[in-house]
Amino acid sequence: MTSNDSGPTPFLHLPVMEAEVVELFGPVPAGVIVDATVGGGGHAHAVLAALPHVRLVGLDQDPAAVDAARERLEVFGDRAMVVQARFDHLVPVMSSLGIEELSGVLFDLGVSSHQFDRPERGFSYRFDAPLDMRMDPASTTTAADLVNNLDESDLSDLLVTFGDERFAARIARAIVSARPVLTTIQLAETVRSAIPAPARRRGGHPAKRTFQALRLVVNDELGVLPVAIEAALSSLTVGGRCVVLSYHSGEDRIVKAGFRRAATGGCTCPDRLPCVCGATPSVRLLKQGSRKPTGAEVSANPRAESARLRAVEKIAGVSVRGPGGR
Ligand SMILES: C[S@@+](CC[C@H](N)C(=O)[O-])C[C@H]1O[C@@H](n2cnc3c(N)ncnc32)[C@H](O)[C@@H]1O
Repeated sequence: MTSNDSGPTPFLHLPVMEAEVVELFGPVPAGVIVDATVGGGGHAHAVLAALPHVRLVGLDQDPAAVDAARERLEVFGDRAMVVQARFDHLVPVMSSLGIEELSGVLFDLGVSSHQFDRPERGFSYRFDAPLDMRMDPASTTTAADLVNNLDESDLSDLLVTFGDERFAARIARAIVSARPVLTTIQLAETVRSAIPAPARRRGGHPAKRTFQALRLVVNDELGVLPVAIEAALSSLTVGGRCVVLSYHSGEDRIVKAGFRRAATGGCTCPDRLPCVCGATPSVRLLKQGSRKPTGAEVSANPRAESARLRAVEKIAGVSVRGPGGR
């Protein structure tokens, strides 16, 4: 897409690892699945079509996604409902709908292709647009606010922490001297000029990591995730499942740690020794480690490449020590 036309366009996003997601939710008890990042409703549609025993509540903080998902899921009538909300508000949203327990929760983290491909959203260095990057246009901080207001060392830290950017200090210095930096292309060019020429030719677009880091911070993507994972796990009924697709190592670390904490009950006993701390696991891991998309999926949809899928199932909480200890 090359135009700056902001009229309605189809919500184009290919759901990642769709068959695996549907298969993982297959055995859950009848009830409600929350798709916490409903986007264009791709995963939600597949789940509802394949699993007649579930209903689905979709959440998204982006009103454009909410509109698109409502339209896509209309065919399921009252089996589907879509609410504009941030996923760390899962529990209040459930209470407001009178839902006590969930059969499943899906998180498909990050941005949708639609958000990337709409020039005016300011997520992409491929189009010239105001430097925005807010998933929820009503939230207050834009990417332009960050690049123009953070001091040089905070900007450099942000690029290291959220973008693993090895030229963070040089980029931060270049941004500070180019201020005000107001558009995507201006930022992309500033970053490119700050990176040594040989490095510019390796590893994709030179501004990729800077844009990713700013997007993660603008939307507090890593900040809200631990709370949301914990809320999701505690809302599941026994046999209910939580499935997470992440696309960034920081996200995946948070998911892995949250799942591990729930699967061990927070056990503090040394590895390989019997548990004596009375920890009570609340989930079981459905696979050790993470699953990746197949090569065929990545060829068909390169944006799936970094996806890592993790999944757990809620179990009846029993102390790993057993009734009499061990
Ligand atoms: C990768 S897309 C999901 C695509 C969807 N699975 C599909 O098949 O169409 C991620 C979506 O999550 C939303 N999102 C990201 N962080 C969120 C949060 N904290 N709360 C609610 N929605 C969020 C984004 O606005 C985006 O629409």
